[in-house]
Amino acid sequence: MESDCCIQQATRLGHLLTDSADDFAGKRRRRQGWIAILFDFFVGAEMRAEKAVSPLLYRWGCLWVTVLYRGEGGCGGVCWRVGGATIALALERLHRYQFSALLTMEHHISNRVAALTPSLTLAISAKAKQMKAEGKGVVGFGAGEPDFDTPQHIKDAAAKALSDGFTKYTPSSGVLELREAIAEKFQNENGLTYSPSQIIVNCGGKHSCYNVIMAVCDPGDEVIIPAPYWVSYPEMVKLAEAIPVILPATDETAFKVAPEQLEAAITDRTRLFILNSPSNPTGAVYTPEEIKALGDICVAKGVYIMSDEIYERLIYGDTIHRCVATFSDEHYEHTIIVHGFAKAWSMTGWRLGFLAAPEPIAKAINAMQSHSTSNPTSFAQMGGVAALRGPQAHLAGWLVQFDQRRRFALERLRAMKEIRCVEPLGAFYLFPNVSGTGLNSIEFCERLLEEKQVAMVPGVAFGSNECLRLSYATSMENIKEGLDRMAAFVEMLG
Ligand SMILES: Cc1ncc(COP(=O)(O)O)c(C=O)c1O
Repeated sequence: MESDCCIQQATRLGHLLTDSADDFAGKRRRRQGWIAILFDFFVGAEMRAEKAVSPLLYRWGCLWVTVLYRGEGGCGGVCWRVGGATIALALERLHRYQFSALLTMEHHISNRVAALTPSLTLAISAKAKQMKAEGKGVVGFGAGEPDFDTPQHIKDAAAKALSDGFTKYTPSSGVLELREAIAEKFQNENGLTYSPSQIIVNCGGKHSCYNVIMAVCDPGDEVIIPAPYWVSYPEMVKLAEAIPVILPATDETAFKVAPEQLEAAITDRTRLFILNSPSNPTGAVYTPEEIKALGDICVAKGVYIMSDEIYERLIYGDTIHRCVATFSDEHYEHTIIVHGFAKAWSMTGWRLGFLAAPEPIAKAINAMQSHSTSNPTSFAQMGGVAALRGPQAHLAGWLVQFDQRRRFALERLRAMKEIRCVEPLGAFYLFPNVSGTGLNSIEFCERLLEEKQVAMVPGVAFGSNECLRLSYATSMENIKEGLDRMAAFVEMLG
């Protein structure tokens, strides 16, 4: 028993040292020196839990040593970190000299995954959650999902499928009935003809994007991404070992890139152009003429277009959405449409998305999917059939509310000193520019959360450090309260 306890102690010390040393190595890059006293959050928390004192970390050449003393009962331990290995020696009871030693190896993370940028969006929302848990009245503008429930007839269809025993594997590209319903949607709403074999149903719009990028990009290929962009695009490109090429756009062009910009960015390594209209995070919607001009360039240069149309139905006023594949057979051949049920049917948690592509690409994606996720959840697919073929009345009501909130928030933001905001024509986000306040997006969001308990997402997460993303998928009451607090904050900045 006692030696088990010692091994546990040694394991904990080993992990502690590995984490601390990694953190120390990161800090060392900024602060040269070979002896340091480390009081990082992790060690501090561990120490408090252990009622221990003196977390010390020394480094001599390739030898790392930490010494931990635990107050009660004279327990303690010593760890060495040599090269990639950690050796932990724990003493459970000093007076009886009970030693236990353990060797732990540093774990390997592939270069592909290690290169990913951690999500800033999650960091802010974690902080907001923590503040809420502490009883602070946080107003959140971070939601990436509608604040409405999935319509009842969709839930009923999935529940029926489940109770009818529709619980087994389906074809990996999805059941034929759903792929037919999706083909009907493209025919009736977009005037695009796809056969069910050109359609792949998968586990969300995000999964659609990932599969497309993985299926068409080789390592070293370039993928052109207009900024501000949806956070996941560059990371997915990196996972495919391809190279994200960012095309910047600002509020001066309503966050849209010009055809000349695209043309100038294309090289003989360019494989894919990512088009997201309506856009997350800006709400920008390209006009049909603008879409055609971008599409023409891709066709002329032999570049695929991944057209992310997940916000297709969330557009306001007389805004028109036109799919790039509709302009000619060549545009159709160069386009892969990614889509999903998350936004217009409020089915974010269902994990159900789809894509439509030229036959050979759909076939390749199907092969890939069959070896990775296989089919999306069987009974969720039946909810998808009901979503497409059932009544659509819910959407008109949602759009009225989204539109009221959009117009109200836009007016309030524009009335704030030093804040500029382009009118978003789609999705459910506003992307105000706060550079006039003298703060960048992270400084602004951190202070707004800290000082006024309002959570917004820093634009830097989307490739624009001058702006913030504000989601109006929240109640009018929250919007009013949050923007009052933001106005007071901006006023205070002077
Ligand atoms: C532009 C864009 N594409 C794709 C997705 C993925 O949606 P999901 O995977 O939830 O269907 C999102 C979600 O926020 C998005 O904003």
